[in-house]
Amino acid sequence: MKDAAPSMVLLSEYRAPDWCVEHLDLHFALDPAETRVESRIRVRRAERAGPGAALRLHGQDLELLRLEIDGKEPDPDSVTVDAEGLLLAGLPETAVIRIETSLRPEANTALEGLYVSGGSLCTQCEAEGFRRITYFPDRPDVLTRYRVRLEADAARYPVLLANGNRVDAGELPGGRHYAVWEDPFPKPSYLFALVAGDLACVSDRFTTRSGREVALEVYVEHHNRDRCDHALASLKRAMRYDEEAFGREYDLDVYMIVAVDDFNMGAMENKGLNLFNAKYVLASPETATDDDYVHIESVIAHEYFHNWSGNRVTCRDWFQLSLKEGLTVFRDQEFTTDCTLFGVKRIDDVQRLRAFQFPEDAGPLAHPVRPDHYAEINNFYTMTVYEKGAEVIRMLRALIGRDVFRRGLDLYFERFDGQAVTTDDFVDVMAEVSGRDLGLFRRWYTQAGTPRLSAGTRFDAETGVLQVDLAQQTPPTPGQKEKHPLHIPVRLALLDRDGSRLPAQLVDGPEMSTPAMSEWVLELSADKQSFKLHGLRKAPAAVSWLRGFSAPVSLDAGQGTDELAHLVAHDDDAFARWDAAQTLLRRAVIARVEGAIDATLEAALTTAMAALLEDSAVEPVLLAALLELPSHRELMESFERADPVAVDGARRAVEKAVFAPLAERLVARTPDRKRWDDGAFTAEAMGQRRLLNRILALRVAVGAEGAVAEAARQYREASSQTLAMAALAAVNESTDPVRGELLADFERRYRNDPLVLDKWFALEAGSQVGDGFARLERLLEHPGFRWPNPNRVRAVLGPFMAQNHRHFHQADGTGYRRLAGYLEQLDALNPQTAARLAQPLTRWQRLEPNRSAQMRAVLEQLAGKDLSRDLADVVQRGLAR
Ligand code: PHE
Ligand code: ZN
Repeated sequence: MKDAAPSMVLLSEYRAPDWCVEHLDLHFALDPAETRVESRIRVRRAERAGPGAALRLHGQDLELLRLEIDGKEPDPDSVTVDAEGLLLAGLPETAVIRIETSLRPEANTALEGLYVSGGSLCTQCEAEGFRRITYFPDRPDVLTRYRVRLEADAARYPVLLANGNRVDAGELPGGRHYAVWEDPFPKPSYLFALVAGDLACVSDRFTTRSGREVALEVYVEHHNRDRCDHALASLKRAMRYDEEAFGREYDLDVYMIVAVDDFNMGAMENKGLNLFNAKYVLASPETATDDDYVHIESVIAHEYFHNWSGNRVTCRDWFQLSLKEGLTVFRDQEFTTDCTLFGVKRIDDVQRLRAFQFPEDAGPLAHPVRPDHYAEINNFYTMTVYEKGAEVIRMLRALIGRDVFRRGLDLYFERFDGQAVTTDDFVDVMAEVSGRDLGLFRRWYTQAGTPRLSAGTRFDAETGVLQVDLAQQTPPTPGQKEKHPLHIPVRLALLDRDGSRLPAQLVDGPEMSTPAMSEWVLELSADKQSFKLHGLRKAPAAVSWLRGFSAPVSLDAGQGTDELAHLVAHDDDAFARWDAAQTLLRRAVIARVEGAIDATLEAALTTAMAALLEDSAVEPVLLAALLELPSHRELMESFERADPVAVDGARRAVEKAVFAPLAERLVARTPDRKRWDDGAFTAEAMGQRRLLNRILALRVAVGAEGAVAEAARQYREASSQTLAMAALAAVNESTDPVRGELLADFERRYRNDPLVLDKWFALEAGSQVGDGFARLERLLEHPGFRWPNPNRVRAVLGPFMAQNHRHFHQADGTGYRRLAGYLEQLDALNPQTAARLAQPLTRWQRLEPNRSAQMRAVLEQLAGKDLSRDLADVVQRGLAR
């Protein structure tokens, strides 16, 4: 269904439902060509609704075969069919509605509703996919109990799954069979799921802390059954962690995870029956890298944590999406921090935030954590709702303290169990337990844009007082010209010459009673504010700002090279230490982009990096991060307008200038490759491999002697995918013929293993060497490439846009035009994925004038086409000035 002028959904127009659904019975006669769905809905008019209230049943692209109300065909005048579905008028106070619809799963390439993936039938209902299965009040504040009967060919679909517990199963005539599932927990339609397939079940058990026995079942295609161990182990760790860290226990007898090849997102938290993109389930050391292992573990945990933050307590409407997503991302970040990556997790998360969320907040698609209008909800599964939403929760914890925050969470889950609520309800609970006024804090939910924080200090040697001056300002975003101050927690410490922390007393207002401490959380809540630290015997050598990245802001503290170098050498906060190095490196790149090489700064960086390489107290995993330059995406944000190819060139030039003199030190600090090439999923082994691989990449990048040959050796001798992949990535920008040989070898080895082949697609598409356009064409013709599959499409087009600057941003606009062509093609098959991939084309305002005009012209052309609502929404917002 094409719709060029999407209508807006407004938060201000929210109204509670007029009808409750008391029970839902679904019968599926499953078949890929034609599936019949019979639904029996028992409804009751809400007390607050008047007798004239009509019942809205959403439906999209459905064939309606039968409609009955209380056993009779309804009077045609009482039924309205419109673009949204059906509207039933004149119903009695309670009624039983029977509906039969017919679907064509095989023809469903959008991957919303009921579709075919591999040999299986499966569903995806969040956000509004249920209305593609049957007519129903498809909104998250309508919760009900489901009873689901599945019927299918027994040979083709031996496994029949739905939410909850299986209460019946048996044979049917004609080689068919059935299963009946009941979910005891009322749920909104977006959490419904079913799967029918010929799948292997790999199982395990978990005993909850109160003694409930839970069967854990992972369903995959038979040939993947030996790649599920990591997913199961991750699930058990997550279940235990949620009990220990958050007091949350699982509530059904079975927890199922099904891996499918065709999936629009990472995974989906359907009650008791998670559906996963196979990429986030399947792993073995030979086929998955350490980063894959970490991602799988965190996505498994994320979906599991949703059982409480999302399913038991759900969202009132889709504007509240961050209620479940921000909180669940926060929870999965805590898990990965405490169980897997420790100190470096925060660095990884901030890197992502700066590379993806900050640009979103600074661009035409900027929106608040809780948006107040949308044309297509699918386009609001964003970095802002997810990652900035998690930052907002983290700030809340910083403001009210860990213990109070935990009590608040307990109260939130208790009070709202079984309900559909809002982000305001969440903050209300935190205000209640803490006794704090969080009125201003709520602005984080409603105001878009990344605040700019400027900071400085003045020391008075006579009084021993350090004055800390903070100021904030948020640039305008679409629809929000005027910005107001936010409540920002700024964590800081003062370092002495030897790197130790200086104690002082924070004097906040008239009270003089705060004890001396060596770390403070300053609460900035106005445009400008000053704070005083008393009792210092000397001026600090350096200020460690925004420790642990205590707020999602961009900071300018105007620190000089010496002060930052002191932090790089000594800061005991891993994030702040890394960030000091990032600031220096960023400055060096900016100088080069602006045509003025800062040789003094680059030399200082070389000295600082040399010292780090010599310092055996620096953990390998942290050292690897310290040796990393800010990403290209992040650097682009440092300029009003920039030439992406020039930024890439400057970034590489700085890398070379800083690290070329360190070639020998890099070799000396390289971990023993043979020793760590074991694929062990431990923090130590992964840290050593990160360092090993970072050093290899640096050596190749600076053209160190023998580096390319070493990469080739590492590739050939590697037994773990982590080392093999890193070797390939290291030579991916090299013009040495070895690049082609290694990549060809990889393609030969994995051409029948789609998830691994995706890595090859990504490297080939992202490489700037040679003729990138011809290569792109070849990739799209490759037998392993399939247009409608989101993983394949993303593996090729994503890196082409994100990394292949020379081709994507070719000055004559060829790259933009190619992309637009592919997107149009994809849009006809899968609007959601097309809309996501179109986002880089909305960045035209930040490009230098020529490329800016080229990109805008392409976007304008796209706007004139017959696009899906998803893509049209992104294109239209992207064009607004
Ligand atoms: N709710 C899923 C998650 O964050 C994401 C998702 C959204 C999946 C929409 C599919 C469709 O865990
Ligand atoms: Zn989620």
